[in-house]
Amino acid sequence: MTAPQHPSAAVGYQPGFANHFSSEALPGALPVGQNSPQQVPFGLYTEQLSGTAFTVPRHEARRTWLYRLRPSAVHPPFTRLAQQLAGQGAGPVNPNRLRWDPLPLPEAPTDWLGGLAGIAATHAASQAEGVSLYRYAANRSMQRVFYSADGELLFVPQQGALRLVTELGVLEVGPWQIAVVPRGLKFRVELPAGPVRGYLCENHGSPLRLPELGPIGSNGLANPRDFQAPLAHFETTRGPVQLVQKFLGELWATELGHSPLDVVAWHGNHVPYRYDLRLFNTLGTVSFDHPDPSIFTVLTSPGSAPGVANVDFVIFPPRWMVAEHSFRPPWFHRNVMNEFMGLVEGAYDAKAGGFLPGGASLHSCMSAHGPDHASAQAAIHSPLQPHKLEGGLAFMFETGRVLRASADALASPQLQVDYDSCWAGLQANFSPPGGRP
Ligand code: FE2
Repeated sequence: MTAPQHPSAAVGYQPGFANHFSSEALPGALPVGQNSPQQVPFGLYTEQLSGTAFTVPRHEARRTWLYRLRPSAVHPPFTRLAQQLAGQGAGPVNPNRLRWDPLPLPEAPTDWLGGLAGIAATHAASQAEGVSLYRYAANRSMQRVFYSADGELLFVPQQGALRLVTELGVLEVGPWQIAVVPRGLKFRVELPAGPVRGYLCENHGSPLRLPELGPIGSNGLANPRDFQAPLAHFETTRGPVQLVQKFLGELWATELGHSPLDVVAWHGNHVPYRYDLRLFNTLGTVSFDHPDPSIFTVLTSPGSAPGVANVDFVIFPPRWMVAEHSFRPPWFHRNVMNEFMGLVEGAYDAKAGGFLPGGASLHSCMSAHGPDHASAQAAIHSPLQPHKLEGGLAFMFETGRVLRASADALASPQLQVDYDSCWAGLQANFSPPGGRP
C-alpha cells in the first residue's frame, strides 16, 4: 500500500489538533508577551473570540485572540433575511428507516449558503441543542460572509472543491477531506473548481475533539499531527459586503462597507481546521467478529453522560477484512443511538444498491437495520479470504439524541419510498435437527 500523503498545499497550514496556535500575516503584527496591549502593532484592534465559557476547565477552554483592521462590533443592525434556510429543525415524528437519493446539483446560480438544506435535527431550529444535519449543493462562490452563532460546522465534501476563506485564514478541502469551522467564526465559501455537493453537521454541543483511545494506547485512529489549521490571511477590501449570521435557526444579515475577514494576526485554540480522511489509521479485528463501529470514530462531541456522544463522526474507510469464521459486514442491529449515514464515494459494504454517493440514510433509536438482503447473502456464502474493501468512503453522524428528519426532507422527491424492501428478501431458513416443527 502506498503511504498516504497530504495533498499538495497551495496555501500554508499549521499542524496539530487543538493546539495553541499563533500566526501573523505581517511580521511583527502579533503582540508578544500579552494579549491586549495599550497599542497594538500597526494600529490593529484586539478582539477575543470565545468558543467556550470563560470558566470551563482549562482543558475544555477554546478561545482565540484576533488582531484586526476593525473590531467586529463595527456593523449596522442585522435584519431578518427573506430567504431562510430550507429544511430547518426536527420535523414530525417518524420512526421509519429513511433513505434519500443525492441532492441534484442546482441549475440556477446558487451559493453554498443558498444551497444548504436541512435534512434532520435533534431539536427545533430555534433550540440550538444537539445537532442539525444538512446537505448542500452549490455552483457559485459566495460573495457574502457567514457565521453560525448556533454551533460548530463540520463539512464533509462529497463532490467538488471548497475554499473556505475564514477570519483566521484559508482552508482548501475536497472529497475524502473534512473541515471544521468553529462557532462564531466568519467565513466565505468559494468554489474554485465548479459545482459542489456535500454534507454538513452543525454541532450545537461541546466542540469536537479526538476520541479517547482507551486500551488502543497512545496512537491510532486520527492522529493529532495530521490536522491542519490555517495561517493568518487578511483582506483590505472596501465596498458593500453582506454579513449573514445564523442565530437560533434564523438567517439575519447586515451590510458592511468592508470585508470582515480582516484579521492580520491571531493566536489561540478556537480555530478552523481540516483533516484528510485518507490519513486515518483504521483499526479492526485480526481474529474474528469485529468491534463496534465506534472503533472508526474520527471526532467526537461528548454529551452530558459519560460515553454517550452528542455526536460522533465515524468513517468506514478502505480496510482489510480478515476475520475468520465471521459474518463480516455490519451485523443486524438495533441501537439506542441514532445513525445518519452518508456516502462520499463508492459503495458501503452493507448495501448492494440504493445507497448512492451523495445519498443519505437515517436509522433512529431502536430501528432495526443492517445489511440488505443481497449483502447478507453474499456475506454468508462468500469464501472468507483476506479481502480489501477499496475505493469507498461512507460515514456516520451518530448521536445520543433522537434525530428527526425535517418536514422538507420527508416531502422531498429524493426520499426513497421503497427503502424497507431492501430487507424484504430475508427469509427464515430455520432448519432444526429432525425437521421444522
Ligand atoms: Fe446502524
